[in-house]
Amino acid sequence: ARTQDHVRTAFHFQPAKNWQNDPNGPVYYNGMYHLFYQYNPHGALWDVGNLSWGHSVSGDLVNWAALGNALDPTAPFDANGCASGSVTILPDGTPGILYSGIDTDRRQVQNIAFPKNPRDPLLREWAKPAYNPVVPLPADVSANDFRDPTTAWLGRDGLWRFAISAVADGVGATLVYRSADFLRWERRATPLHASRDAVMAECPDLFPVATRGGAEEGLDTSASGKGVRHVLKVSMPDTLEDYYAVGTYDDGADTFTPDEDGDYRSWRRIDRGHLYASKTFFDARRSRRVLWAWVNESDSEADDVARGWSGLQSFPRALWLDGGGKQLVQWPVEEIETLRTRRAPPLEGAELEPAGGLREVTGIRSSQADVDVVFEIPSLGRAEGLDPSRLADPDALCREKGASVRGGVGPFGLLVMASGDLHEHTAVFFRVFRLLHEYAVLMCTDLSRSYTKADVYKPTHGGFINVDIEKDMSISLRTLIDHSIVESFGGGGRTCMTARVYPEHVVTGSSHLYVFNNGSDAVKVSKLEAWELASASVNVDDDGGLVG
Ligand code: FRU
Repeated sequence: ARTQDHVRTAFHFQPAKNWQNDPNGPVYYNGMYHLFYQYNPHGALWDVGNLSWGHSVSGDLVNWAALGNALDPTAPFDANGCASGSVTILPDGTPGILYSGIDTDRRQVQNIAFPKNPRDPLLREWAKPAYNPVVPLPADVSANDFRDPTTAWLGRDGLWRFAISAVADGVGATLVYRSADFLRWERRATPLHASRDAVMAECPDLFPVATRGGAEEGLDTSASGKGVRHVLKVSMPDTLEDYYAVGTYDDGADTFTPDEDGDYRSWRRIDRGHLYASKTFFDARRSRRVLWAWVNESDSEADDVARGWSGLQSFPRALWLDGGGKQLVQWPVEEIETLRTRRAPPLEGAELEPAGGLREVTGIRSSQADVDVVFEIPSLGRAEGLDPSRLADPDALCREKGASVRGGVGPFGLLVMASGDLHEHTAVFFRVFRLLHEYAVLMCTDLSRSYTKADVYKPTHGGFINVDIEKDMSISLRTLIDHSIVESFGGGGRTCMTARVYPEHVVTGSSHLYVFNNGSDAVKVSKLEAWELASASVNVDDDGGLVG
């Protein structure tokens, strides 16, 4: 039996056991969703030489059946590990995997794989042709700095392209390769984008978004032309943060120019919390673009080993361009609603009194829940003043002004995964500040009291939300709670924040959920929907259904 079962999630994607990291090759194919992922079949820790591609399938992005590994490190061109990559559906309907192999000489090279039997609806077995690698290590790239090919797209010239991370000639760059037949690839002279940042940005993703103001519609990866903008996303390994920019992709030169100047670290974050190596795919079934990402553990390796597993995938999110055209909006895919069971009695209209107002949300098992709440504020009169220089570091601001620090407008929000005595709790909350001529809305996830266990990383995550508080006079928050993960979407998904928590009270008792207010004015809960979620069937060993 596993120890620490209370940490395991109920509706997030995990293999039955062992280590997982990056999502690889997500795709909707033939009526089925596929997720591949970086997987160590031999243990709970990352071990590059053992990296395989785990593989699961789903009809609804919620319930998953585990299949055998799609790729294992068995060939000369991947003997030291099958690293990250993607899936592209070719014009004849065949899906192809492009992935980074670490070869017998420990060089990173790019390989291709195809289904052994294209008529197998589950795409169970994959063949790696002997002509691999299709892209060897270039002379100006060092052996460790060439990986993570994206889903390929077709240019208007009829040629395929994929993008890939590299350090070329000492400069961190996202390179583009082009091909007529998907097998012979040629590097473009100019990178898609280059950065002065010394660290190699991993896991690039380039995808189109529709400009029609706030349209939730997603586009096929090869879409281009009028009404289409592009997003480039990269992952920074030293801080485990994902950054993106909205910009212009020139399909003649194969270059990407961000709308706003600056290096990766000045770009926007996919998530202001704990989330990495994100990757999107176009879901033709519902015409939307969906994002997956790896959410690693933040307690110790010894804990991972004791549990026998490590790492989650974020709950899949639909994403689209916000009406203003400057940023993305992300929202849990609607299929999550199929898990909703009991609903908490409504608190609509409840007043949270100033300086300590607290109401419990009762009637549901709140350790697996979907909470959608709107807080209404009476006035901005008491908003605390803020020096504009503080806008640069919202994490620090949240650290300084935690949930228990009295404020003007806010802090108010949710206390989740809370013990009955509130000794342990994770606070997700807002604070409104007054700048010279405008207001700034801060969103925080405060982990300082989230669990009593000593010596573990308990960061405070912060981010500003781009909402018009003077017009709205309210702020919305959607939070998904699943035992050891708390994923929050502020302002309708304009700022997202994922956190890992390891509360101890759940070993012997149940978890509580509250709305709170520690500001100077009363706050009204104008909407509160809190649902208990049923456990999904996620890669359980005894799932006979799909694997058959
Ligand atoms: C990102 C990453 C990728 C690499 C993979 C190996 O987390 O380092 O760059 O392909 O993980 O597991």
